[in-house]
Amino acid sequence: MNYRHAFHAGNFADVLKHVVLALIVRHLNGKPAPWSYLDTHAGCGIYDLAGEQAERTGEWRNGVGRLDGRNLGKAAEAILAPWREVLARVAADHPGARLYPGSPEIVRRMARRDDRLRLCEMHPKDSAALSDAMGRDRRVKVVEIDGWTALGAWLPPRERRGLVLIDPPFEEPGELGRMAEAFSRAYRVWPTGVYALWRPIKDPAETRPFLEALRASGATKLLRIDLLVREPSDPKILSGSGLVVANPPWTLESDLRSGLPEVARALSQGPGAQVVVESIGAA
Ligand SMILES: C[S@@+](CC[C@H](N)C(=O)[O-])C[C@H]1O[C@@H](n2cnc3c(N)ncnc32)[C@H](O)[C@@H]1O
Repeated sequence: MNYRHAFHAGNFADVLKHVVLALIVRHLNGKPAPWSYLDTHAGCGIYDLAGEQAERTGEWRNGVGRLDGRNLGKAAEAILAPWREVLARVAADHPGARLYPGSPEIVRRMARRDDRLRLCEMHPKDSAALSDAMGRDRRVKVVEIDGWTALGAWLPPRERRGLVLIDPPFEEPGELGRMAEAFSRAYRVWPTGVYALWRPIKDPAETRPFLEALRASGATKLLRIDLLVREPSDPKILSGSGLVVANPPWTLESDLRSGLPEVARALSQGPGAQVVVESIGAA
């Protein structure tokens, strides 16, 4: 396990993932019944963008750094709003620091009294950092466990509503296929949960088989959300990222169609920056 998210925190791929995550949690908060959140690959929770690891790559400058202090217009700001709100609260709580909240901290900040977070992180150092970041919050359980195992064992949650984020590091070949298989198994056990599956976009040829494998799960409501910051012409380079959301909130597709193109323009690193938002569920 060589991957450390601290080098990549706040990059353009994190922006897409976390903006969509915050929109989903806002939707879950629209009903009073408690929800559960499972983060299979949770990372450290909070990242120091002025720290050595983040500064070494500087990736955040082409991500959250591009959006800070800018107003992108009404439709884009509407989809950014829940995420920006969390960022503002983190900044207000840590004046003078330049911290970026990862998925666990975004969800924790948005959770209500009876909502519940279960966070899996296998790297011992990152798991310890995550426990520190989550503090003594009784709604949160941090477990140093294989997220794929947790996905097979912990669903459905007792709340019977909630969200699963599957966000592996893609260090090993075949991770997309593994993700599709793991999703299919989880979906069979809990077909009404919301699932968000993150993937890097390097080689566009990988997209079709992955989406076909997800459709084969039988899921009827699947929303594909891709954001490319440049033409994906070199399969060795991360040119974009995508999320597939199963059982998405019903306004997510139209909201993203309206707001995401402007975000992609702000994050563009060359010709070919674009967005795909489409329903791809099995007929
Ligand atoms: C992409 S990062 C997670 C980022 C985080 N979800 C966020 O959005 O802020 C992936 C994390 O998964 C961890 N990891 C790798 N293999 C794992 C496994 N089998 N189970 C749980 N965590 C794992 C890595 O240590 C890394 O911190």
